[in-house]
Amino acid sequence: MSIAIDGPSGAGKSTIAKALAKKLKIAYVDTGAMYRALAYAFIDMGNPQDHHRALEEMNLKISPEGIYYKDKLLTDELRTGQVSKRASELSKEPAIRAYLLDYQRKLGSDQDVVMEGRDIGTVVLKDAKVKFFLTASDQVRAQRRYQQNLEKGIQIPLDQVEKDLKERDHRDCNRSLAPLKQAEDAIVIDNSNLTLEETVEKMAAIVEAKNGTL
Ligand code: DC
Repeated sequence: MSIAIDGPSGAGKSTIAKALAKKLKIAYVDTGAMYRALAYAFIDMGNPQDHHRALEEMNLKISPEGIYYKDKLLTDELRTGQVSKRASELSKEPAIRAYLLDYQRKLGSDQDVVMEGRDIGTVVLKDAKVKFFLTASDQVRAQRRYQQNLEKGIQIPLDQVEKDLKERDHRDCNRSLAPLKQAEDAIVIDNSNLTLEETVEKMAAIVEAKNGTL
């Protein structure tokens, strides 16, 4: 059974997908982290123009435990503003998407997964048993991201956070290849007024109803 979760930045996809996967006792796959890891490596390599060659030469290892670059596990370095922006820019490039697509599809066919990203329900796992489109209002998403930054000791003004999110959403929704888009058969969950627990409960109940069991 695979579950696809798509939606804009700051809707809480990662936290919610992780919690849902735990509740359902199946694997969790964060595809955004893959785009972020490629962006991190590209920046480290001086932003090479030849994407095919860069992908071949890059010492990147994507594994169930996480993503390694030059044998180092990438964690917080994937969450900087610079990497977020570069990931969004690079994700419109065909070579980059093709490189990750096979891998993501294989992960989704080898096991039961909750996979989250931008094109999971529309491209990667078109046959997912349940598809969610997770969203929240612009203000709520910006406020959450602002708060997450503060918790990490990063001070970025709220209006700047909101501007960055909008810019990234615009780019992710308007690229020609696999843009962020609600799948026709996706269930929309707007969690502007829901807590994390309430959102996970609601989604788990939908999965249960579709699947017969949890
Ligand atoms: O979910 P995230 O914010 O970690 O994703 C970072 C960027 O990667 C996002 O701006 C767009 C891109 N992305 C994508 O194009 N397709 C996906 N399935 C996941 C992420």
